[in-house]
Amino acid sequence: MTFAKTPPVIELRDLKKRFGIGDAEHYAIDGIDLTIKKGEFIAIMGPSGCGKTTLLNILGLLDSEIDGEYELDGRHVASLSSRKQARIRSQQIGFIFQSFNLISRLNVIENVALPLTYKGIPRVTRLKLASKMLHNFHLGEREYYLPHQLSGGQTQRVAIARALVNEPSIILADEPTGNLDSHASHIIMEELSDLHKRGNTIIMVTHNPRLTTYASRVITMLDGRIDTDTFTKKPAKKRTKRPLGAKRKKAKA
Ligand SMILES: Nc1ncnc2c1ncn2[C@@H]1O[C@H](COP(=O)(O)OP(=O)(O)OP(=O)(O)O)[C@@H](O)[C@H]1O
Ligand SMILES: [Mg+2]
Repeated sequence: MTFAKTPPVIELRDLKKRFGIGDAEHYAIDGIDLTIKKGEFIAIMGPSGCGKTTLLNILGLLDSEIDGEYELDGRHVASLSSRKQARIRSQQIGFIFQSFNLISRLNVIENVALPLTYKGIPRVTRLKLASKMLHNFHLGEREYYLPHQLSGGQTQRVAIARALVNEPSIILADEPTGNLDSHASHIIMEELSDLHKRGNTIIMVTHNPRLTTYASRVITMLDGRIDTDTFTKKPAKKRTKRPLGAKRKKAKA
């Protein structure tokens, strides 16, 4: 399939998001039209307050009080029940948000395995998958630590491992390397790059222009609108491995 024929995974038409009432009313998103196809790796940049996080929240079905249209995989989000939205969110979308905290009474491996519980995967398999993900992030030796025993950067990597363990086909990342040193940033960007090569769709907000080299498209925002939209390289088209959204072979419990 050529990229031109790749179906859109996300379509926004005249999307608006209003906050506040009366004199305090303002549009954080002020008329965005955007088509995102499966397998794109998009970097979103723009000054503080231009609406990047607000847009990611909407794309991730965390905020459905919007004007305009949002179609996800061909379905109008406005027509989906909140239960259906929650199911899509937990099975199809992975969030890498800095504010997502770990559960303090669970150790690292249990934290990472948690999203798999909602998929009905047996405990032993859950722990095996979580362990594999932690090894990808060079955290294999920290599996049985509690969150308070980790450094800030390690905590962030555990949160990212947890966001990716259930193999979401759409990954939304809000400054995923924000507080990390260059080595830790590299580990995360390589993991995102690998997910992209496997055919998954990635939308990443960043303030770091160097990170846009990983992306196939760079969008800049200004005052709640798209300012520039540039395709930098071809999106991943060849899947060398199973894409994350595809079904896993049933593992023995
Ligand atoms: N819950 C809220 N209530 C009222 N206004 C809000 C709310 N959330 C965001 N805003 C406003 O919407 C605008 C966009 O905020 P947003 O967080 O999306 O910006 P951003 O581009 O992510 O900025 P940053 O780079 O600093 O993270 C800002 O003016 C902000 O004050
Ligand atoms: Mg933000």
